[in-house]
Amino acid sequence: MTVSECRAEDVPVLVASAAALFAEDGGRHDPFMDTGWPAREGHSYYAGLVEDPQCLCLLADGGAGHLIGRLRRPDPLRPDAVTAVLESMRVAPERRREGIGGALVDRFLAWARERGASEMSVQAYAQNAGALAFYRAHGFRPFLVALTRT
Ligand SMILES: CC(C)(COP(=O)(O)OP(=O)(O)OC[C@H]1O[C@@H](n2cnc3c(N)ncnc32)[C@H](O)[C@@H]1OP(=O)(O)O)[C@@H](O)C(=O)NCCC(=O)NCCS
Repeated sequence: MTVSECRAEDVPVLVASAAALFAEDGGRHDPFMDTGWPAREGHSYYAGLVEDPQCLCLLADGGAGHLIGRLRRPDPLRPDAVTAVLESMRVAPERRREGIGGALVDRFLAWARERGASEMSVQAYAQNAGALAFYRAHGFRPFLVALTRT
């Protein structure tokens, strides 16, 4: 299995994986999610991330998985924290439980540490039990809990 950084020509593959994530995760767990956003806006958004030195865009095996990370701007309320956010990740259903997600997260953690991150964070839907178990297996623990009601 190979993990590589996205180049400009890989953006359509990244958009396709992100669109599938929107459909599977946001579309299933958030009634307000606009699952058409990646098709409309995704190309310019993800092309911008690929060029952004504060962002990491990874593909595994040419598109079987993706991960997007970002160094957050300094927060004056938490001056000693340097936070790297795992913004998005997905592995194609037929390739899950082979260690691809783990390889992507390991690359993200190394990238974040190289850039001085003192914490790494990720958000997941409370109902996405698989993702929560995956992140827990990689050392992430609940810190803030978002509560919502309609
Ligand atoms: C979450 C996801 C990225 C994990 O990718 P993956 O390549 O299957 O993960 P790995 O094979 O590296 O799994 C590593 C470990 O994480 C845990 N894990 C992964 N998926 C799990 C699941 N569905 N249920 C329980 N534990 C899980 C296990 O401990 C696993 O080790 P094991 O297979 O030896 O038991 C993948 O399931 C996925 O793309 N899900 C749909 C999209 C999604 O939810 N993305 C995250 C949005 S926040």
